[in-house]
Amino acid sequence: MAKLWGGRFAKETDVMVDEFTSSISFDQRMYKEDITGSIAHAGMLAKCGIIAEDEADTIIEGLKGILKDIEAGNFSFEVSLEDIHMNIEQRLTDRIGAVGGKLHTARSRNDQVALDTHMYLKKEIKVIAGLIMDFEKALIEAAEKYPEAIMPGYTHLQRAQPILFPHHMMAYFFMLTRDFSRLNGVWERTDIMPLGAGALAGTTFPIDRHAVADALKFGQVYENSMDAVSDRDYILEFLSFASILMMHLSRISEEVILWSSSEFQFIELDDAHCTGSSIMPQKKNPDIAELVRGKTGRVFGHLMAMLTIAKGLPLAYNKDLQEDKEGLFDAIDTVKFSLTIYAAMIRAMRINQDRMDNAVRNDFSNATDMADYLVKQGLPFRQAHEVVGKCVAYCIEHKKWLMDLTLAEFKQFSELFGEDILEAIKVETCVGARNSFGGTSYAQVKREVSSARTMVAKQQTVLDGYIKGNV
Ligand code: ARG
Repeated sequence: MAKLWGGRFAKETDVMVDEFTSSISFDQRMYKEDITGSIAHAGMLAKCGIIAEDEADTIIEGLKGILKDIEAGNFSFEVSLEDIHMNIEQRLTDRIGAVGGKLHTARSRNDQVALDTHMYLKKEIKVIAGLIMDFEKALIEAAEKYPEAIMPGYTHLQRAQPILFPHHMMAYFFMLTRDFSRLNGVWERTDIMPLGAGALAGTTFPIDRHAVADALKFGQVYENSMDAVSDRDYILEFLSFASILMMHLSRISEEVILWSSSEFQFIELDDAHCTGSSIMPQKKNPDIAELVRGKTGRVFGHLMAMLTIAKGLPLAYNKDLQEDKEGLFDAIDTVKFSLTIYAAMIRAMRINQDRMDNAVRNDFSNATDMADYLVKQGLPFRQAHEVVGKCVAYCIEHKKWLMDLTLAEFKQFSELFGEDILEAIKVETCVGARNSFGGTSYAQVKREVSSARTMVAKQQTVLDGYIKGNV
């Protein structure tokens, strides 16, 4: 097909070059943004007297027809037309004749692709923000479902102190709230309108960039045309956000995998969320968690790729920048799918209270509480630590747990132990007593959950603001 830029060329482009340089296979997903942006541009050109009103009407009608064709599957994307912008422009001229050629007045593909990508990302940010909130709600629900479930808390993956299972779930909830607010920051810097920058230096036509920004519901307009066409910071920020979010999902994945193993058996994933083995009939594998953990790698990779693409690029547009889209799109798809499937998996997951109980009771994770008991009788903490350390060594030697010791045995280690020591080191007491703000006590976890509900309601307000600012 003849090129829209073919004027100065004497030869056809090599087919291999067409294939190498074209982006239509992946940028076609921005068709709607491309058309919506073009409609706003054509309307502005007419309002500013740059093209006639009836010309704009014809162009806009033509663009709407193309949108319908694409959505009905009646549009064949041509590699020889390179990208979504030229595919649509060519089809417009085919439909409405030479007047279609007026659409590209005061515009370049450099500012056009930037506009499309900003609009596309804004749309997806809104979806992803909603998915984060849904996953957060799944975590709150898991916390509320088992308000009293006690499990071992770990440091170094060694049993450390007893905690409430809902406290563990809420730790992930609060992680996710930071992802939400980071995404909100990405939104702010994506909500800047680049069109009208032209190829790099602005245009000789009396355009109105702010009118286009209003029509497309952008909050701001790029102040510098060279920055407008070469900025990919918003993509980098999105990929950074996505990398941190995936890192969080990967951490919870690791726990889900461990907890569902025969060694732990703390949780049981729903059959619908696991897969089997083609050879070992007994297997039930936590594939979702493993795949999410694995897919984290590709999202980190996209961030590194984009940083590397942008590094050392002179201003303004360079074709290198076309490489921004596949990683961005893949990161968007990966994050959306991972969040959706994870929320479903957490909602259907059940915990195995007996196994958690067994792990937390046959254990020394109440040792800190025993030391705290002595401290409350007046012993300095360091000495209390030493006394309890000796008790633990004694128990190991005699194959006992701290709860199995008699008062006489306790007293061998310190006269400060009284009748109430057994009550003080019961796991329920240990958990209930950690009532410092943010601790694992029943009361604190209740507070966390109610604060979480308030946070989600606030996030909804932010999300409603996005919807207002979106076309
Ligand atoms: N397909 C191109 C991209 O994604 C559009 C901009 C092309 N501009 C140019 N001067 N070749 O970056």
